[in-house]
Order: sequence, then C-alpha cells, then structure tokens
Amino acid sequence: MDFQLTEEQEMLRKMVRDFAKNEVEPSAAERDEEERFDRSIFDKMAELGLTGIPWPEEYGGIGADFVSYVIAVEELSRVCASTGVTLSAHLSLASWPIYKYGNEEQKKTFLHRLATGEALGAYALSEPGSGSDAAGMKTVAKKDGDDYILNGNKVWITNGGVADLYLVFAMTNPEARHKGISAFIVEKGTDGFTFGKKEKKLGIRSSPTTELIFENCRVPKENMLGAEGDGFKIAMTTLDGGRNGIAAQALGIAQGALDAATDYAKEREQFGKPIAANQGISFKLADMATEVEASRLLTYQAAWLESEGKPYGKASAMSKLFAGDAAMRITVEAVQVFGGYGYTKDYPVERYMRDAKITQIYEGTNEIQRLVIGRMLTK
Ligand code: CAA
Ligand code: FAD
Repeated sequence: MDFQLTEEQEMLRKMVRDFAKNEVEPSAAERDEEERFDRSIFDKMAELGLTGIPWPEEYGGIGADFVSYVIAVEELSRVCASTGVTLSAHLSLASWPIYKYGNEEQKKTFLHRLATGEALGAYALSEPGSGSDAAGMKTVAKKDGDDYILNGNKVWITNGGVADLYLVFAMTNPEARHKGISAFIVEKGTDGFTFGKKEKKLGIRSSPTTELIFENCRVPKENMLGAEGDGFKIAMTTLDGGRNGIAAQALGIAQGALDAATDYAKEREQFGKPIAANQGISFKLADMATEVEASRLLTYQAAWLESEGKPYGKASAMSKLFAGDAAMRITVEAVQVFGGYGYTKDYPVERYMRDAKITQIYEGTNEIQRLVIGRMLTK
C-alpha cells in the first residue's frame, strides 16, 4: 500500500492551493453575500487546465487522474465551496458521461469545449416531482424526423443559466419507466430552452441553482448521448463518480473549518490562557481532525479505484456519506470554538457551516447513499 501522493499530484495541489488563496478566497464572502457567480474564476481555472483534469490531451484535457481531480475540488472548497461545486458539476457530471458514452464526434466537439473551459457544463436530472426517485421524471423527448422535441421542467440545476452545455435526461418512452429514459446534450440558446426560478439558498450561494424550462425544444438526434433508453444507466453511473466529487467538496469545507478553528483556539485567550489550553477545546479539535483524515482516506481511495479501472460505486457512496456527515459535524463544532464571533460574518466558519449542509443533500441525499450502499451489500 502506498499512501504517498505522486510528484504530479503534489504539484497540482500546490498550484490549486495558491490559486484558491490568491484568486478565490479574497472574494468568497462577498460573492456569498451577493449570491454572485463569477465566470472569470472558471475562466482562470480553465487557463490552469483544471476544467479538463482527467481527460486525455486529444480531447482538451491535461491527462491527469481522478485523485488529482478530487484534490483540486478539495483545495477550492477549502476556501469556497461554491467554486468547488462549479468545477465538480462541470467535470464529473457534465463532462464525464460524454467521455464515457460519447461517440468520437461528441468527444471532439462537446467534450473538447468542456475540457478546455470554452464551455461550462451542467447536469439536469432532478424535477419538481422527482428528486430521490430520479426515474419518476416527467420531461419527455418525442422523436420528430431527425430531431427530438423536449417538453418539461428541470429544477435545482447547478451552473443553471450560466452553463453553455446541459446534459438533460428525458423520457423517450414514458411507459417503460427507467428503461425509457434517454440523455441529450442541449446547448444554451436553443429555441424553446429557457431558464426559470433562480433559488435563494442557505449555502453555496455563489453557485447558481436554477430551473430549466423546455417548451417544444428541438434537439438534433446527433446530440443524444448513447442510445435511446440508455439514459438512466448514464445518469446512475455518472453519479457513481460524481458523488466522490461531493465527498471532496465536503472534505475541503471540513479542512477549512478545522484550520480556522485551530488558529483561533491558539489565539483567543480567556481566563488568562488560550482557549486551546482547555481539554474541552483541544479534544474537539482532535475529533474534528480525525474525521477530516478519515474523509480524506475514503475520498482519495474512491478516486484511486476509479483511476485504476476498479469498481468504485460503493466506495464513492461511502465517501460522500461519511465526508458529508462529518463536514456537518465539524463545521458546527468550528462555530462553537469561535463562540459568539463564529456566529457572525466577521469570520468564515458560519459560511462553512451553511455550505456543509448541502453535501448531505445533493447528488443523492445521505439517506439515498445508505440505500445504495445497503443494496450493494445485500444484492
Ligand atoms: N450503475 C449502473 N446501473 C445502475 C446503477 C448504477 N450505479 N444504479 C441503478 N442501476 C440500474 C439497475 O441495475 C437497474 O437496472 P435493470 O432494470 O436493468 O435491472 C436500474 O438501474 C434501476 O435500478 P433501481 O431499481 O435500483 O432504481 P430505483 O428507481 O430504485 O432508484 C436510486 C435507484 C439509487 C435511488 C436512484 O434513483 C438515485 O440515485 N436517486 C438519487 C438521485 C440523485 O442522486 N440525484 C442527483 C442529481 S445531481 C445533483 O444533485 C448535482 C449536484 O449536486 C451538483
Ligand atoms: P426528496 O427526494 O423529496 O427527499 C426528501 C427527504 O426524503 C430527504 O430527506 C430524503 O433523503 C428522504 N427520502 C426520499 N426517499 C427516501 C427513501 N427511499 N428512503 C429514505 N429516505 C428517503 N439535481 C440535478 O439534477 N442537477 C443538479 O445540478 C443539482 N444541483 C443541486 C443543487 C442544490 C443546491 C440542490 C439543493 C439540489 C440540487 N439537485 C440537482 C437536486 C438534488 O439532487 C435533490 O435535491 C436531491 O436528490 C433530493 O431530492 P428532493 O430535493 O426532491 O428530495
């Protein structure tokens, strides 16, 4: 067993850490307050090659592995979870399925645009009436000559409105339930494709979450990913890896909260000594650090399994479940270490706490992760 990162992975971590500190952190609180997405941050990530980390160079990527990818999401989320999920949704939800299921033409066009950061991606599975029960979707795609006509609504779409390419799941055969779902790549600006409500959220407030509306939206059949009826398999296998991106986001949030709480505990004095000198505080920090490390091991392991071509679905559900729950516990404790100051926007820990909550909800709630793991154990 080798727990040592490679020289390339270490270099990538240093590069992303520097970028996060200098280009992302300074505006994180302000973007959160203003609920403002900043495309220039994504463009700078593209310049660094982060928008195509695991894809081969011929498709515009930098040919690194999935461990490098989770390290990047971790380091971004350590200062700004919204930026972490922008990259995670773009890379593991919008780009991965095109890499995995796309034909050569789709990879040379759509994947290349996503990998180079020319285009930002989004993944549209959830609907008002179907979140956990993803196969219960109502959006339909009806064949019409060489095109499909899409009608329906998607909700909660990360990067919605600001993304250029959307992977949209729709029923081509509603009677067949999950076997009747197909996947389409839909470009922003396509006639009949508009944006609805932008959510006002508790956390990850500089990551836009938006409704998509399809009204007789004509999509050419060349934009179908895989074959008719492949959509649910594409959606589920995409989430297998995507969930580890959320684990990395949770890990980054938790590490950021732990760092802030540790520094504060050493500086803040009460009763004539630093609060860290109280076992009540240092034990909290010890528990937080231990959970951060366990989250990291699970997350890196799942990424390593994917890079090695080994099964990683269960490992990824476990990393998301553990790291998401741990991030919530750790960020609550971080606010506690800061006392009253932690409850204000003068320090970043209240933002970490608000951001951590979403990691227990999206890409399958943590109840759904338990369902997935349970089914894998008992099937
Ligand atoms: N890989 C391959 N195939 C899979 C699979 C997987 N991981 N999971 C299920 N399948 C297949 C099954 O083998 C089965 O195939 P057959 O019919 O050929 O046997 C078929 O799919 C149906 O499987 P189930 O009966 O298990 O399906 P289900 O309707 O009970 O649902 C579920 C399973 C796991 C609960 C699924 O609905 C699910 O994952 N729900 C959560 C939805 C979700 O995670 N949404 C995230 C949206 S993206 C997001 O949130 C973005 C963001 O954060 C930024
Ligand atoms: P529901 O499915 O209604 O669940 C409600 C509660 O019931 C939850 O606690 C759930 O765990 C529980 N529950 C449901 N079924 C079961 C069961 N069988 N056993 C035990 N408990 C159960 N979706 C996308 O497609 N693309 C995106 O980019 C995207 N980004 C998102 C960003 C944000 C900020 C948010 C909030 C959501 C996003 N989503 C996205 C949607 C997200 O994946 C769903 O919110 C999530 O899957 C849960 O669905 P739901 O909200 O409909 O809750």
